Amino acid sequence: MTEMFTIAPDDLTAQQHSEQLAQQIRESIVANQGWISFADYMQQCLYTPGLGYYSAGSHKLGWGGDFTTAPETSPLFGAAIATHLTDVHKQIPDYNILEFGAGSGRLAESIVQRLTELDALPSRYFILEPSADLQQRQQELLNQLPSALSQRIYWVEDIPENFEGVMLANEVCDAMPVHLLNFTEDGVGEVGVSLDQQNFIWQTESLSSSRLEQKAEQIQSQLDDLPYRTEVCLFAADWLHSLAHKLSRGLILLIDYGYSFEEHYRADRTQGSLRCYYQHQAHDNPLILPGLQDITAHVEFTSLAETAFNSGLQICGFQEQADFLLAGDITMLAAGLQHNLNEADWLQQSNALKQLLLPGAMGHQFKVLSLCRDMHTLPRLKLNDRRYQL
Ligand SMILES: C[S@@+](CC[C@H](N)C(=O)[O-])C[C@H]1O[C@@H](n2cnc3c(N)ncnc32)[C@H](O)[C@@H]1O
Repeated sequence: MTEMFTIAPDDLTAQQHSEQLAQQIRESIVANQGWISFADYMQQCLYTPGLGYYSAGSHKLGWGGDFTTAPETSPLFGAAIATHLTDVHKQIPDYNILEFGAGSGRLAESIVQRLTELDALPSRYFILEPSADLQQRQQELLNQLPSALSQRIYWVEDIPENFEGVMLANEVCDAMPVHLLNFTEDGVGEVGVSLDQQNFIWQTESLSSSRLEQKAEQIQSQLDDLPYRTEVCLFAADWLHSLAHKLSRGLILLIDYGYSFEEHYRADRTQGSLRCYYQHQAHDNPLILPGLQDITAHVEFTSLAETAFNSGLQICGFQEQADFLLAGDITMLAAGLQHNLNEADWLQQSNALKQLLLPGAMGHQFKVLSLCRDMHTLPRLKLNDRRYQL
């Protein structure tokens, strides 16, 4: 990992903000005998109320921010998801939608707009967004929808009990805190964060939990070359378990970049997948710019599928994003859009379509894990279904 990638924070306010968060993290390290796990460090960098990257006011998503997600590139993404949702609507006419981490609100906007055209609106569209700043952005956008739509949208702090319908999370699991493991000839250690004077530094300790020990054993069996550094996300499994617990009937769609266990911990991925994003520059040093940059890691879908199975859900599909969107009629939707756009706008949309579908872009890197409870077959989830890879 390159340790010396430095980016100057763009203004004094940002520097002060980052320094305030850094001080809080330093205090937590001191209070914890000089070391915190990387998961703890990442949690504080992203979610400390008022200061964390997702909790404070930096722009984050879209062209003026640090990174761009699928819903930001085109409404076709949400429209194709809406096609899938109509299949649930047929089985549960009085269904609800719950979107986790709704970002700027663009996905919710494009989904309800398309569901209106399809006459398949949910009774309620819930959004569970831990970031107060993003929640405000979502409200500003979605309150501009016609009132028949905006009145169906509710922000919640917890998952509603006995939920029936669709739970949806696009690029949420990749923003969950990960533990860092380092395998060497001397054994496996947990890489966390310590202090050298005021500076954050890496420090390796023994593994902080038996769950990590179990994971380390599984990963070790796949490795050839050492040293090998990688991530384990325990948080996502716990989170999914809580979703499963609340879902009485319906579908969970998890869309993210990532791999199966075997692929994620491939012997040649010796540096893991941890990345930072600051103003559309990707780099690999999370110890700088606390609170000002995004920190993310690829999702390991096999463990999520196992958690789902152990929580009584069925794994009903594992598709590449391109196949999932094609099954949601994205090309037909694009053809329809072409008629309504001028040439410049259409050019932009056709570029976005390539971004969403092409193998070198999001088409193959992003996967859709579909999980359900008490549902009949959903045939669109069978297009190039890759559950055998999990
Ligand atoms: C990379 S952004 C993706 C935003 C949006 N879904 C999109 O695709 O544009 C990650 C989002 O996940 C949210 N998030 C992180 N942990 C969460 C959790 N446990 N529950 C709900 N949202 C979460 C963040 O606040 C943020 O809105």
